[in-house]
Amino acid sequence: MNTVNTIRFDDQVVIVTGAGGGLGREYALLMASRGAKVVVNDLGGNVHGAGDGHGPADKVVAEIEGAGGTAIANYDSVATPEGGGAIVATALQSFGRVDALVHNAGILRDKSFLKLETADIEDVLDVHLKAAFWLCQPAFAAMKEQAYGRFVLTTSASGIFGNFGQANYGAAKTGLIGLMRVLSIEGARYGIRANCVSPSARTRMTEELLGPLAEHLAPEHVAPLVAYLCSRDCDFTSEIISAGGGRFARVFLGLAPGWYGGSEPVSPEGIAGHIEDILSPAGYTIPRTSMDEAEILLDTLNLGELKLPG
Ligand code: NAI
Repeated sequence: MNTVNTIRFDDQVVIVTGAGGGLGREYALLMASRGAKVVVNDLGGNVHGAGDGHGPADKVVAEIEGAGGTAIANYDSVATPEGGGAIVATALQSFGRVDALVHNAGILRDKSFLKLETADIEDVLDVHLKAAFWLCQPAFAAMKEQAYGRFVLTTSASGIFGNFGQANYGAAKTGLIGLMRVLSIEGARYGIRANCVSPSARTRMTEELLGPLAEHLAPEHVAPLVAYLCSRDCDFTSEIISAGGGRFARVFLGLAPGWYGGSEPVSPEGIAGHIEDILSPAGYTIPRTSMDEAEILLDTLNLGELKLPG
């Protein structure tokens, strides 16, 4: 095991949202210990998003400073454009730049689909998904200016693979993948990389869900991956990495070769008759962009000579 700490954040500024506890705290502590100046954002509410307080963010800042690091607390909610702007402004005003942004803040309002009330849907989408826009827009502007940046957005197996009672949360978490993909494409020319972490860890959010797995899933196991994704050393983009309990694994969306029914529209029965071919994952590819899929479609349709826009 390599024990030389070559991955460092000296002169770099990292924002971690929801860093007052759980996973975010570990991310903040690890990157601060590697030289990052950290904006420790946390609203200080409960797991359902109720209440607020300065205590959690202040405590993590004190821990970082106690260990000789540099950090500043921010208590704004990620859920509004003003809050997102103020969080990024804290980094710029206090430390002069923003090198990496980890959007980690989150809440739960688990209910089966028909029981979800309007506020359960809106609040969860606000904190997870819309917040990423309010944070990433001002951060992207600063990163573009300095021609360097790293985004890490937090997705979840509950959305990627699905989980009972988490329609609001799962949809919000999977929406973040779409945002991350487009940030990767639009940010590429400015040295900006964007990736998603899909964590599994014992925190207040999951303590009742994990059962006997909990004792094996310390949040400290996830932090090294997030620190790596935030670092200069990480030059890939548009990936989703599952991290938990010491296992790190790529999650990907593949495109199967499918079935080509010819240039004339097929019947619904034609679909029914070939559904196994359509659903078979054998021989899949992993497109990097929607244009990659369009190129594959051109090949299947024997239209390889056509030029795609863009
Ligand atoms: P946690 O509840 O310990 O941490 C979430 C933090 O976000 C809290 O400190 C909370 O105060 C803060 N927060 C909530 N709303 C906020 C707002 N509007 N503005 C600013 N801060 C706010 O939970 P945990 O487990 O550490 O979760 C971190 C992230 O990882 C979340 O996005 C969660 O959805 C995600 N996640 C966690 C998993 C796990 O196994 N723990 C699994 C999959 C995803």
